Amino acid sequence: MDAMKNKFWFIQTYGCQMNESDSERYAGQLEALGYHKTEDMELADVILLNTCCVRETAEGKILGKIGELKHLKERNPALLIAVTGCMAQEWQDRLFDRAPHVDLVIGTHNIHQLITLIEERQKASDHYLAADMDIPAFHDLPAKRFQKFFAWVPIMNGCNKFCTYCIVPYVRGREVSRPVADIVKEIRQIAAEGYKEITLLGQNVNSYGMDLKDGTDFSYLLQAVDAIDGIERVRYMTSHPKDMTFAMIDAIAASKKVVNHMHLPIQCGSDELLKKMNRGYTTDHYLELAAYARKRIPDLVLTTDIIVGFPGETEAMFQDTLHLLKRVQYDMAYTFIYSPRTGTPAAKMPDQIPQEEKSHRLQRLMDVQNVFSLEHNQSMEHQVYDVIVEGPTKNDENNWFGRTTGNKMIIWENDGTAAVGDTVPVAVDKGQTWVLKGHLVH
Ligand code: SAH
Ligand code: SF4
Ligand code: F3S
Repeated sequence: MDAMKNKFWFIQTYGCQMNESDSERYAGQLEALGYHKTEDMELADVILLNTCCVRETAEGKILGKIGELKHLKERNPALLIAVTGCMAQEWQDRLFDRAPHVDLVIGTHNIHQLITLIEERQKASDHYLAADMDIPAFHDLPAKRFQKFFAWVPIMNGCNKFCTYCIVPYVRGREVSRPVADIVKEIRQIAAEGYKEITLLGQNVNSYGMDLKDGTDFSYLLQAVDAIDGIERVRYMTSHPKDMTFAMIDAIAASKKVVNHMHLPIQCGSDELLKKMNRGYTTDHYLELAAYARKRIPDLVLTTDIIVGFPGETEAMFQDTLHLLKRVQYDMAYTFIYSPRTGTPAAKMPDQIPQEEKSHRLQRLMDVQNVFSLEHNQSMEHQVYDVIVEGPTKNDENNWFGRTTGNKMIIWENDGTAAVGDTVPVAVDKGQTWVLKGHLVH
């Protein structure tokens, strides 16, 4: 290969923030190898798809994308195609059977092997698979961060909860917490580099530290992180109602930087179904947590995840979910149609709900939730919020946006006075279901 020629990487990320964060660590390795970023897949020397398999829709989309890459490989046999992440972990070498043009399949614990695998692949003509979960989940890797003022900080990997519908524990392995000292070191560096906001990432942040067996827990971590100078906002994702404690809510309330947004997935409003889902809490317990959080954290923005059409969900159970939405009145709910995942207990449960009924329930659920989303956003009208400027919106260069501490997106007409990364006061003029419109306060 021409030594003078620039080499490019292209990464597409699917799934959750954990994958976003992993992608940054893949990018860091590619940069170390001398590759540069390209937005144009056609120009890339390495294409990496960092995948998700949480629902069938995600998997279908990714398989389609992998298929599309075939013609690029035919045109340029030197092109290196890597499929990484949760779907790679699930499919292993079956992916080579399905798509022989894929060069590398890399699982969730093998991120650090990218450089070696690329080198091996360039020497030989074989495919390579690295998807062994019996190795440490965290490796000291440089991240090439995709954003300038917002940084992901993984605090743990894996999940021990085994909700009966969910594939994550099978593809991410058991819970492993990163030591507090490593996390604090990374955040200090992030702060020194000028980042303003961090998000602590884990499938279940509230069980952080349990495996360390030294008394460390999420409250302790929050206190340690809160004390780091330079960071303005600390977010955390995702909370689990079984492991979230009142003491953790107190720690959030007592902190200076931990934001007033809590994402607390309930999944459904029926105790019977929660049991079948193996969620480990009742709706009563959930409501107590939510009420306590609202009492202790001023202006709390509460969001959730809901699954409709879990096997055996009757109309009455679905009504319980609608009722719960009306009681809690979330700021926003991420709503999903139950998707059977091979290997999970729920996929084999009786009384699977027909697709049409699932879609109909999803629509009814969204109709109920949208009213509350709109009401919450309208209640913010004529008030001023501090927003960290993220830049122009996708559709219109003149409209800029940023987020409040509660993670609400506000859009305003850019007058050139606010720069990306500034924290500025924005007055809300109009609350809509998904977004707020406002103007900069001068
Ligand atoms: N660990 C987090 C989120 C994991 S995945 C948590 O426990 O909340 C994000 C969301 O995807 C879940 O909260 C759930 O609502 C949804 N989800 C997971 N598996 C699913 C499945 N098989 N079908 C539909 N939705 C699913
Ligand atoms: Fe999946 Fe449940 Fe773990 Fe969340 S807590 S990742 S839904 S098994
Ligand atoms: Fe998907 Fe894996 Fe995240 S399955 S939701 S990318 S942990």
